[in-house]
Amino acid sequence: MSKSPVVAILGATGAIGVEVVQCLERRRFPLSARRLLASARSAGRRLPFAGREQPVEELTEHAFDGVDVAIFAAGGSESRQFAPLAVRAGAVVIDNSSAFRMQADVPLMVPEINGAEIARHRGIIANPNCVAVIGAMALWPLHTRNPIRRIVAATYQAASGAGAAAMEELRESTRASLEGRSYEPRVLPHPYAFNVFSHNTPVDPDSGYNEEETKIMQETRKIFGDESIRVTATCIRVPVLRAHGITLNVEFERPFAPADAREILGAAPGVKLVDDVARNYFPMPADASGHDRVLAGRIRRDLSDPTGRSLALFVVGDQLLKGAAPNAVQIAEALPR
Ligand SMILES: NC(=O)c1ccc[n+]([C@@H]2O[C@H](COP(=O)([O-])OP(=O)(O)OC[C@H]3O[C@@H](n4cnc5c(N)ncnc54)[C@H](OP(=O)(O)O)[C@@H]3O)[C@@H](O)[C@H]2O)c1
Repeated sequence: MSKSPVVAILGATGAIGVEVVQCLERRRFPLSARRLLASARSAGRRLPFAGREQPVEELTEHAFDGVDVAIFAAGGSESRQFAPLAVRAGAVVIDNSSAFRMQADVPLMVPEINGAEIARHRGIIANPNCVAVIGAMALWPLHTRNPIRRIVAATYQAASGAGAAAMEELRESTRASLEGRSYEPRVLPHPYAFNVFSHNTPVDPDSGYNEEETKIMQETRKIFGDESIRVTATCIRVPVLRAHGITLNVEFERPFAPADAREILGAAPGVKLVDDVARNYFPMPADASGHDRVLAGRIRRDLSDPTGRSLALFVVGDQLLKGAAPNAVQIAEALPR
């Protein structure tokens, strides 16, 4: 790879793509040129970067010629079709979709946790599911002190997790509801304003888990490199614009004092402790939105486990950020030049 790589962003007009573009700028990623790619719908649209505007190009088979790093943020089918072409053209692909995450030869990376995985990539590196990243950021520092045996997760997932169109649907349907107008959902399957519903991914009739829950369960084990951890998840969509919340009930190998967990998370990279019992002030999407760090708090002993080996906590993170864009840019920064 040249010293200052040429970087392509596929899906540059989407919820993640916009954040990737801003994150490259914010972190002063040393690129020599940048290509913005999207569908024919957006070709010619101009996006701001470093005080100038750059046109969006349509994704084609030759879009990755001369590209060193390609950050994919379109969809699984675009990744499956175009990532191999980009790799063949000489690019390293950092993919936000779920297309390659569970392939044995594809690293599933959170740089703070398993950064060494980068050494074994063969052209494609996967960014994990956004909830899996946010949960892992808070759990990994605890796991390294006292191994986790079981995780019970319940999520409160924002509109942004379903892309830019879902964010618009939440705004529009809320406006309609407040004005007493009817609103027909177009992006998500149920009324979104003033409502919560089970995550919109398909449910596997055999296991009863939806795709989002399955991703969290499988990907957490892969990121931690520990297939013995038992994980269950229930994923719920809530009418929040951006930043996902997760309640976590976690069983460790040995007893874990909440004060010790608080101290560990207070010093953990990429995590901010928000645990003010006196003020009843804990992690909130309103505080996490727009920030790279994951907020962790409400740390307490899980009294349903009399052995003292289980903790309960609440974690919130802006999944367009640490759950996706900065994680991808961090991976790009770690690539050898
Ligand atoms: N949102 C999240 O929190 C999140 C987190 C982690 C991973 N992901 C994954 O990241 C990917 C992007 O998600 P998103 O939320 O950013 O979606 P989004 O807001 O719907 O944006 C999708 C982007 O992909 C482009 N695109 C769609 N079809 C295309 C095609 N056939 N050819 C070229 N470009 C195409 C769109 O371009 P146009 O503007 O031209 O339509 C747009 O730029 C998905 O795989 C998603 O599962 C999302």
